[in-house]
Amino acid sequence: MLRIGMLTSGGDCQALNAAMRGVVKCIQNESKEPFEFYGFEDGYKGLIYSKFRMLTPDDFSGILTRGGTILGTSRVPFKTIHEPDENGLDKVAAMKQNYYKLQLDCLVMLGGNGSTKTANLLSQEGLNVITLPKTIDNDLWGTDMTFGFQSAVDIATKAIDQIHTTASSHGRVFIVEIMGHKVGWLPLNAGMAGGADIILLPEIPFDIDRVVDKIEERDAHGSRFTIIVVAEGAISKKDAKLTKKEYKEKLANYKYPSVSYEIADQITKKTGREVRVTVPGHVQRGGEPCPYDRVFASRLGAEAGRLILKGEFGFMVGYKNREMVKVPLDEVAGKLKTLDPNADIIKEAKMLGISFGD
Ligand code: F6P
Repeated sequence: MLRIGMLTSGGDCQALNAAMRGVVKCIQNESKEPFEFYGFEDGYKGLIYSKFRMLTPDDFSGILTRGGTILGTSRVPFKTIHEPDENGLDKVAAMKQNYYKLQLDCLVMLGGNGSTKTANLLSQEGLNVITLPKTIDNDLWGTDMTFGFQSAVDIATKAIDQIHTTASSHGRVFIVEIMGHKVGWLPLNAGMAGGADIILLPEIPFDIDRVVDKIEERDAHGSRFTIIVVAEGAISKKDAKLTKKEYKEKLANYKYPSVSYEIADQITKKTGREVRVTVPGHVQRGGEPCPYDRVFASRLGAEAGRLILKGEFGFMVGYKNREMVKVPLDEVAGKLKTLDPNADIIKEAKMLGISFGD
């Protein structure tokens, strides 16, 4: 009997269900021995507190197109994983105990950066672990693409498209804030797809005067409006020079809901222009996966199933140079895939006239 545990961890995204379905379908079609699936509820919490349910292939039927996760998810930060819970429970020991109690042969974890660190820890503790790269941020090291990313690009692009028409009618400057605290793959791709004039990213600190220059250049050429895509984690050159302590102090007294509102305020003060801010927020993570993600997540799931059947553990299934690859978890854990400010895509965007405010 093959016993497989599964959990989804961290912020959700589209195609989590498609990926799990991929694992199950592969095992169902390829396994020579009978199998059982155990779904842990709400991420690592389910594994820590033994909250699980047995799943049958029927549970995975009809979920290819469904957003969210049928298992539920939660954030259990890696930095707290070694801290006992409020009742003194050792979380790592509890996860191991529950894994062994259910006599699992493997744990499949669908998660992003922090979740993969915990998966690596469990793997080092002797559990058989396979992970699948989920996140709209596309920031997992070791894979060119994560599932959820393309769906979020579609949604964020549509948000920018909608803003375009109203911005042009009113001749306004519009800021659209796109998710991405530490990395800018999503704002960059949605910004380019949506025809943004300015894109501000965490990896390329901006100078507000260069942003204003671009708006004025557009005005001078008769463009009535400007669309600025701002990543959640966009940072000015001035703020990038602050020490961690100084930056924390700035945020403690911050009067704006987010960086976009600060930028809007600065633009109005410098140009007298009306600026509006739109924040699509979690809409970007919601709803059904796009066709690309359905196929991609299904493939990743099938590859995970293949590794399980071969008895190969301790890997994240990723996608590199158009091929499915297995990447050792200790190579992935703790590394972010950030955007290189000198990457071709940034150079090309600049050739297209997009300003990064640098
Ligand atoms: O990691 C995915 C992500 O959507 C980020 O882009 C965003 O910064 C963050 O999660 C939001 O987190 P939460 O859902 O906890 O508000």
